[in-house]
Amino acid sequence: MGEISRQHWSAARYAETAHFVPALGVPVLELLAPQRGEHILDLGCGNGELTEKIAAAGAVVVGVDAAPDMVAATRARGLDARVVAGQDLAFDQTFDAVFSNAALHWMRPPEKILANVHQALKPGGRFVAEMGGHNNIAAIIVALSAVLGRRGLDAHRLSPWYFPSAPAYREKLEAVGFAVDEIRIVPRPTPLAAGLEAWLDTFAEDFLGPLPPDDRVAARHEVVALLRPVLMDEHGTWVADYVRLRFRALRRR
Ligand code: BEZ
Repeated sequence: MGEISRQHWSAARYAETAHFVPALGVPVLELLAPQRGEHILDLGCGNGELTEKIAAAGAVVVGVDAAPDMVAATRARGLDARVVAGQDLAFDQTFDAVFSNAALHWMRPPEKILANVHQALKPGGRFVAEMGGHNNIAAIIVALSAVLGRRGLDAHRLSPWYFPSAPAYREKLEAVGFAVDEIRIVPRPTPLAAGLEAWLDTFAEDFLGPLPPDDRVAARHEVVALLRPVLMDEHGTWVADYVRLRFRALRRR
């Protein structure tokens, strides 16, 4: 697995093809239950859609994201947002809660991220998040592996993603000093209104980027052809095989 993703993030493309990401993040926002006056960090805030909802609940929220374009989009909503990667978080007992939606699976190594989140929380503070879990987008990964394998590339080495099981992630949370309140895998088949090609363009640069430019379109078509019988429903809608890992944990010490 690559440590640092080569994915480029465009807020405009994200809004066009991935608007379902914040829309489907509402259950994790409910699990957070932000309260008026609380200080909350939104880790991997993306375009700030959920950050804005946390602020609307009356919390004092800071969004951080490694992608400058996404931070600019969050700031354009009038929110406090900063370009900081999860690996470089340097807050010290600052927040009542840390929230994260659909971002942690891009951040590695997980032990370092969890240590930084733990440090950012006040003792007793909560970490509430959802990320890709074990088996997330398994069919898409198998198709990418097959197409890259034909070209002599190992998709697993190129993958920027980390999709842990509930027991594995619980262990990591506990190892840095969290008490885990709840943690569970939630299968969530996800319709892709913009289609699979747009999804691959938005999220799979780590896999297709290493190919010669004149082969990328052909490779993407091969991935789509492999997945059509599996992920396209009878109505012609692409439905991705998303599996979430959702949890709530408290800083113990
Ligand atoms: C996810 O939210 O699970 C995800 C999104 C894009 C790429 C990989 C995983």
